[in-house]
Amino acid sequence: MALIEVVQGDITRQDVDAIVNAANESLMGGGGVDGAIHRAAGRRLAEAGAAIGPCRRGDAMATPAFDLDPPVTHVIHTVGPAWRGGEHGEAEVLASCYRRCLEVADELGVRTIAIPAISTGVYGFPAERAARIAVATVRSSPTAVERIRLIAFDRGTHDLLTAALAE
Ligand code: APR
Repeated sequence: MALIEVVQGDITRQDVDAIVNAANESLMGGGGVDGAIHRAAGRRLAEAGAAIGPCRRGDAMATPAFDLDPPVTHVIHTVGPAWRGGEHGEAEVLASCYRRCLEVADELGVRTIAIPAISTGVYGFPAERAARIAVATVRSSPTAVERIRLIAFDRGTHDLLTAALAE
């Protein structure tokens, strides 16, 4: 059973085996956490993403972490749902992101992983619902990952994830 923790901070500064990127289908970078990770990992990340992309929404694909500080060895890119009101399967696609990231982490032998609040920025997924889906999905996904760090970039997200974890 993985230990699940909520940490407020910058995902590019986490001391873990792998970090998850909330990407777009191209895997060639963007804004938000995608931009931060590409800036920290260097331009080879976009080249590696272009080589394996596109990534379908709800799926996850791994690349090396390049210039990210050790011990991060992999970036697991996932593409979350863009919020369209909640009647278009957004919740299922978001859950799939968390599940697939853990499956890819298991394929890589990752033991510690940091995951951002997927889809709650540019993609507009309501943060409280997303927090509950994140916690419920990582709790219910069988995985060999030992430590799952849910990263909140702001206090509000931190408090929502913490409340979801306490339920
Ligand atoms: N570390 C951790 N979390 C971060 C960081 C960071 N450095 N920067 C932003 N975040 C948080 C945001 O505050 C938000 O809570 O990541 C969460 C996800 O927001 P976005 O990065 O906007 O991602 P998302 O909503 O999934 O939208 C993805 O945006 O940047 C583009 O290319 C990306 O098209 C894709 C879309």
